[in-house]
Amino acid sequence: MALLAPSILSCDFSRLKEQLLMAQEGGAEMIHIDVMDGHFVPNITFGTLIVEAVRKILPKAFLDVHLMIQNPQERYLDFIDAGADNISFHLEVVPDFDFLINLILKAGAKASLAIAPGTPVHMLDQILPKLYMVLLMTVNPGFGGQKIIPGMDQKIIQLRKKIKSKGLNTFIEIDGGIHENNIEYLASCGASVIAAGSLVFSNEDKITQKVREISEKIKRF
Ligand code: DX5
Ligand code: ZN
Repeated sequence: MALLAPSILSCDFSRLKEQLLMAQEGGAEMIHIDVMDGHFVPNITFGTLIVEAVRKILPKAFLDVHLMIQNPQERYLDFIDAGADNISFHLEVVPDFDFLINLILKAGAKASLAIAPGTPVHMLDQILPKLYMVLLMTVNPGFGGQKIIPGMDQKIIQLRKKIKSKGLNTFIEIDGGIHENNIEYLASCGASVIAAGSLVFSNEDKITQKVREISEKIKRF
């Protein structure tokens, strides 16, 4: 069953609480939180204070923290302490990713690896059994509201096959450029968690309705 993870990157931060509660009312159980450092990606967003705030607003939600930062090994613990349930970090910045996965697991959180669109899925072969999710970026990391990069559907299909052939249950999360016109197709390709920012938050009067509608659409996959 595919599920929607609203990404707060596109919310109105002056109304964070209100908009998160609307998303929750629509049935959102997982919230995607994009941390950007201005080094690994050109954009800067926020750090642990926002994760703490989201945790306070939604005590029971699953907080999916996507670290787009150069040194996740120096910061992961702060985010777990702030309330993260899952930490995703980028394979591109931590070639020795096995070590950091173990540290995250030891600290009591779920551990996931994120890969940028240009990084091939075979690089995950050895580590797959330890991962909670593989976060397949479907746009280049850094900004919300971009268009999906063509060919990402094949990457999802390839990874889904790999996970199945190994008898694993690893979730495939997709992130970036997901809209009404592609969400069902990408869920049918094997995406199990769908992070979406602008799709959920661009019409601020309809957040609850949007989350409900989209969740309904993708739950059959
Ligand atoms: C982009 C972020 C995404 C972003 C997606 O680097 O990782 O999570 O919020 O935004 P949309 O859904 O608007 O493409
Ligand atoms: Zn993200």
